[in-house]
Amino acid sequence: MRILSGIQPSGQLHIGNYFGMMRSMIASQDSSELYAFIVDLHALTSVQDRERLARGTLEAATDFLALGLDPERCLFWVQSDVPEVTELAWILSVLTPMGLLERCHSYKDKVARGVASSHGLFSYPVLMAADILLYQAERVPVGKDQKQHLEVARDIAIKFNNTFGETFVVPEPVIDDNLATIPGLDGQKMSKSYGNTIPIFASEKELKKKVMAIVTDATPVEAAKDPEKCNLFSLYKLFAPADRLAEVHGLYVNGGAMYGKIKLELLDLLQDYFRAAREKRARLLAAPDQVREILGQGAIKVREKASVTLDLVRDRVGLKY
Ligand code: ADP
Ligand code: TRP
Repeated sequence: MRILSGIQPSGQLHIGNYFGMMRSMIASQDSSELYAFIVDLHALTSVQDRERLARGTLEAATDFLALGLDPERCLFWVQSDVPEVTELAWILSVLTPMGLLERCHSYKDKVARGVASSHGLFSYPVLMAADILLYQAERVPVGKDQKQHLEVARDIAIKFNNTFGETFVVPEPVIDDNLATIPGLDGQKMSKSYGNTIPIFASEKELKKKVMAIVTDATPVEAAKDPEKCNLFSLYKLFAPADRLAEVHGLYVNGGAMYGKIKLELLDLLQDYFRAAREKRARLLAAPDQVREILGQGAIKVREKASVTLDLVRDRVGLKY
């Protein structure tokens, strides 16, 4: 099974990203043919700052490698290193009805949040379709917010196949509706847009500040509390070993749960959980050329595959004369 996933290099990755997407993506390199890439061309629609985009791309790649993505077991590259994708995006764009793009919520939502409206932002879903179709991906794991973009990619693939003959695999979205939404410090969905995140690679000091700032209620220690309604417990649950989790669950239900103590335990658990990744990340940060080399090799491998598809597409549409 060929699985493909693109990640925007915008902002520090947080534990919501990790448990919501990165962990299962990294695990899929063992069971599937994984194509994973950093979508810098997409990020350019909202990050127009040379330094921020370049640093963000390298950092996102570094973080993924540190967390276990293994370039020996998957294909890992940066979107813009494969220029074939923009040519395909153009060809697909002439088959994309305006109405299809006009219906996309994501464009409207981003403009409402202050992202400058531009042709690139509007045609974002066409570039995303090119990302997916270029590599003949079968499965694309995405969050619920990307569901519509996957429908656009499928519509374009079907239209191309009907117009020019069977060419593209029609991709299937993989959307895990049961996937828990990881709450942020304030109990809302953890999101960089809400400023309520716990960054995976926060410094020790910053991590402590974040964990101590997790919002809890003001009930007395002896009072019985519902653990499922407590965002501290939801976060604690992600890291605690089963036997200790059962004990703390008992303290919530029967009274005696001390939030301050649980927070300190959570802090230790967080540090332990990401310790190896943190060490690996420090080594990679000290050797950025090593990361560039990995990405460069990934791009070379994947360009071979991209050029096979693009060659076929050029032929199908009449660009070979
Ligand atoms: P953010 O909300 O911080 O901007 P993104 O929209 O860039 O995060 O999300 C990147 C990926 O991480 C998506 O696949 C998304 O589903 C996942 N993700 C983000 N926040 C959470 C969360 N709080 N819980 C679970 N998954 C999340
Ligand atoms: N639009 C996706 C997001 O914001 C990122 C993305 C770009 C992507 N190209 C992709 C995801 C191809 C999956 C497949 O999260």
